[in-house]
Amino acid sequence: MTPIPPVDPQAFSPNRFAGKVLLVTGAAYSSIGGCTAIRAAREGAIVFCVDRKEHELQRTVKEITAAGGNAAALVADVSKSTDADLMVVECVRRFGKLDLVLNAAGVMDGTDPAAPQDFPNQKPLLPAAIHEATDEYWSNVLASNITSMFVSMRAELRQMVTQGSGGSIVNIGSIAGLTGLPGNPAYSASKHAVIGLTRNAAIDYATHGIRVNSVNMAQTDTPMVFRAYEFVKWAMDQGAGSSMAGAKSQSLLQMADSEKRGSTPWEQAAIILFLLSGDAANLTGLAMATDGGWTAY
Ligand SMILES: NC(=O)c1ccc[n+]([C@@H]2O[C@H](COP(=O)([O-])OP(=O)(O)OC[C@H]3O[C@@H](n4cnc5c(N)ncnc54)[C@H](O)[C@@H]3O)[C@@H](O)[C@H]2O)c1
Repeated sequence: MTPIPPVDPQAFSPNRFAGKVLLVTGAAYSSIGGCTAIRAAREGAIVFCVDRKEHELQRTVKEITAAGGNAAALVADVSKSTDADLMVVECVRRFGKLDLVLNAAGVMDGTDPAAPQDFPNQKPLLPAAIHEATDEYWSNVLASNITSMFVSMRAELRQMVTQGSGGSIVNIGSIAGLTGLPGNPAYSASKHAVIGLTRNAAIDYATHGIRVNSVNMAQTDTPMVFRAYEFVKWAMDQGAGSSMAGAKSQSLLQMADSEKRGSTPWEQAAIILFLLSGDAANLTGLAMATDGGWTAY
């Protein structure tokens, strides 16, 4: 076995998105959204970045502007329709239009992503099998993973339909939208809903020239996964074990790789930007498993 080389974090296609305005939710630095924003800016996109984590969001924008790119940030909670409406208004006020969207904001559990990790005190908000799960865990995960998708897409699509020049949207789901995920029922239910909403929008907006697709990854090395590892370790230390570790945790490519690496956010960014680009002109309504073969077996 040899290592499978990851996509180069510096890779980009010059001018692919020249003059296009891209809105990214969940654009904090090191996240899938953040890496996509940075690469899109290198390819000529003007990027409007949104997240709840102010410091990490500003890091993404600073990296783009320091390299000569064009970007702006808005701290917002996209599970709220007022914030989702505001982000589109601000994007258009700042950059004049909206061509492309990546809806990447999402959470693994019911805690505030901007709050420090404190599992013992956050327990009612953490993943649990249905008979042990709380209302707060359920409603917070659904709010950030699927209500956010609805209110964000509503605001984005209103703008795109008004512009009348088409567009492309990518929503981030998960392998947990294609299969069950042990011990995290709200995450799995919300990610299945992302795929349903994506397909619905693909049908309703094809005649407007707007394509809508979802990407559904397995383990991708971002702050969310590092937090998931910490959670599994903590839950196991509690003696209860953690069903979130699951019987199946590796993708085909992870098993085949001598270093057993998961996907990188730059690999996800490369696929997302392909879907947003003109090369994907005939793709819509797709629930693409960007999962290294995780769902193939
Ligand atoms: N990393 C993985 O292994 C993995 C696997 C499958 C799916 N996903 C999905 O990929 C997407 C991106 O996650 P990531 O891996 O980059 O993790 P991440 O935690 O680094 O990024 C997600 C970002 O979304 C932001 N966010 C969450 N709720 C928000 C809200 N209501 N309003 C505004 N911002 C909000 C968070 O602050 C965070 O910065 C998520 O939808 C996640 O569910 C990730």
